[in-house]
Amino acid sequence: MASNNVTKSLVELQKEYLLPTYSPELLFIKGEGAWLWDDSGRKYLDFGSGIGVCSLGHSHPAVAEAIRRQVGTLTHISNLYMNANQPKLAEKLVKRCFDGAVFFGNSGAEANEGLIKLARKHGNPKGRFEIITMNDSFHGRTLATLAATGRAKYRDGFAPDMPGFKHTPFNDAKALAEAITPKTCAVLIEPIQGEGGVMPADAEFLQEARRICDEHEILLMFDEVQCGMGRTGSFFAWQHYGVKPDALSLAKALGNGFPIGAFIVDEKYKKVLQAGTHASTFGGTPLACAAAMAVLDTLEKNSILGKCSEKSEYIFGRLNDLSAKFECVREIRGVGLMIGIELDRPAAKLRKSTEDKALLTLTAGENVLRLLPPLNVTIPEIDKAVEIIEQALVEFSA
Ligand SMILES: Cc1ncc(COP(=O)(O)O)c(C=O)c1O
Repeated sequence: MASNNVTKSLVELQKEYLLPTYSPELLFIKGEGAWLWDDSGRKYLDFGSGIGVCSLGHSHPAVAEAIRRQVGTLTHISNLYMNANQPKLAEKLVKRCFDGAVFFGNSGAEANEGLIKLARKHGNPKGRFEIITMNDSFHGRTLATLAATGRAKYRDGFAPDMPGFKHTPFNDAKALAEAITPKTCAVLIEPIQGEGGVMPADAEFLQEARRICDEHEILLMFDEVQCGMGRTGSFFAWQHYGVKPDALSLAKALGNGFPIGAFIVDEKYKKVLQAGTHASTFGGTPLACAAAMAVLDTLEKNSILGKCSEKSEYIFGRLNDLSAKFECVREIRGVGLMIGIELDRPAAKLRKSTEDKALLTLTAGENVLRLLPPLNVTIPEIDKAVEIIEQALVEFSA
């Protein structure tokens, strides 16, 4: 059902002219910070952030201003020419990550496609092409990233799977070591699985994965599309764990809503992808890079990143208190402001119930309610969200 004042004609247009791949029920017309307004004027607290994208909240003034300024100056010129923003943004990312170089694209799946191509290009001279990824992982909806994704349900109906991918159980270093063959060229891991149910990797698992990759001289690659860009309280999720990958992918929060993706490659592998081996028409436009530079600067300038751990501690404390009151809550888990509430049954009903109470949340896997609030969420906003989740849990467990 559409929200109150959505005109019938708009719903009809949606049904008639859009592929039915999504089934939205609400129409939002304005956003500011952690808040969204629907077409009837109802205000919602957004703890989904557009699936982990608007980490600085909606319509952040610094990002809006950067886009406004750039759009009137230069929007797109193609990568046949240099633009002033792309190298500057790349420098900012590298300085915060590790010595290396960046390639810009437009989405998470495209960033992961880049990682896959990097790994194959590096492995092919030795006859290596196979990439090991984890069960329950999610890497995107293109054919290669679907094949990399460790949940078969996303691949249903799109056979045959693109060859060259193997899945092993998450957090199982022994299984990973056993899966390596002379054909393996890389291991790809989400340090904190998002769609799969907000499952953080064990530090020992990532350390072992690093050791195994070094031993076999294959690439360790992290998908930080959802868990990167400050979500864990560290700029990159690898820094939270202290396990450095050879390459990582980013997207989602990099542009705070302006589409941009990227992959960063360690200095050692910088020359693997040479001129003509990879490209993207819209990758790294002056406009996208202006937005992302404003995001990076804002994250640090306003100590948003610095305060993330404090807020994380607060919300985990509040949610743990809550979980003690409800038998249906199995576990509160996550890192930073990437939070999963695991239930003893499917979470869809609870998500809907919070939405009815004007709190937007997400599900992850079957039984997990996922919270990805903006990183600059305030303590009163956290209190409000916890209060609504408590009300929803009362009804859910009844
Ligand atoms: C970890 C991870 N990788 C990749 C993707 C795909 O990103 P996109 O939808 O921008 O292609 C997602 C999207 O949810 C994700 O969570």
